[in-house]
Amino acid sequence: MGMPKHIAIIMDGNGRWAQLKRRPRTFGHIKGTRVAKKIITACSRRGIKNLTLYAFSTENWFRPQEEVSLLMLILSRYLKRETENLVKENIRFSVIGDLSRLPLDVANAIEKSIEATSQCTGLNLVFALSYGSRQEITQAVRDIAEKVAAGEISPAEIDESVINSALSTFPTPDPDLIIRTSGEQRLSNFLLWQAAYSEFYFTEVLWPNFTESHLDEALQAFAMRQRRYGKVSSNDNNHEKLPN
Ligand code: FPP
Repeated sequence: MGMPKHIAIIMDGNGRWAQLKRRPRTFGHIKGTRVAKKIITACSRRGIKNLTLYAFSTENWFRPQEEVSLLMLILSRYLKRETENLVKENIRFSVIGDLSRLPLDVANAIEKSIEATSQCTGLNLVFALSYGSRQEITQAVRDIAEKVAAGEISPAEIDESVINSALSTFPTPDPDLIIRTSGEQRLSNFLLWQAAYSEFYFTEVLWPNFTESHLDEALQAFAMRQRRYGKVSSNDNNHEKLPN
């Protein structure tokens, strides 16, 4: 099966990592950003085509105002400092999520990074920011309904590909591998539709402690798994003859 074409990561455990060190949660986010940077480069060097990082969920807006502001500051600082490097590494940057809720400064930094990397042909790097999968699906349903109301398509024409192309992830292929760090084993409103056939890899390692070798462990585990998409495997066709 080899390498996944698309890896999606839920980078969890920054807060706990910081608390263990008796430091403020933001200290964990800063370390988490450094780790994200390393893992982005590592994926790019391994020839992964698509990487989606869950950087901020719609639910994260309910965190204390101070933590939200600092996360936003970290994000815009990351983009301003890293864009040049992304271009050098031929990484194309994009985002999914409700950008209208982001502070203007962050939205501007995002626009600039998207623009600067738009000609890059290597890794497709996607940040899920202010992202929620149910909100994404709701928006897609609304868009399709409007097309139906305008007479552009009929309800009978709505199939999986129509829904796929109405989602914000389009045209990125579905994730083959979803990694979640820090021991939690749930999707938390991340890529619900797109994860239909994804392999899940959960690790106890907190995101700030996640290294390239942890990434390689996940890639190895993925390579060992057999994905059948609900079918039987190709070398499993020699069924015993049923008795008469
Ligand atoms: C989860 O840890 C992490 C987040 C909510 C934010 C993720 C953000 C980063 C890693 C930094 C920004 C990223 C980039 C790519 C620039 P948590 O705070 O939920 O940890 P906890 O579960 O231990 O509280």
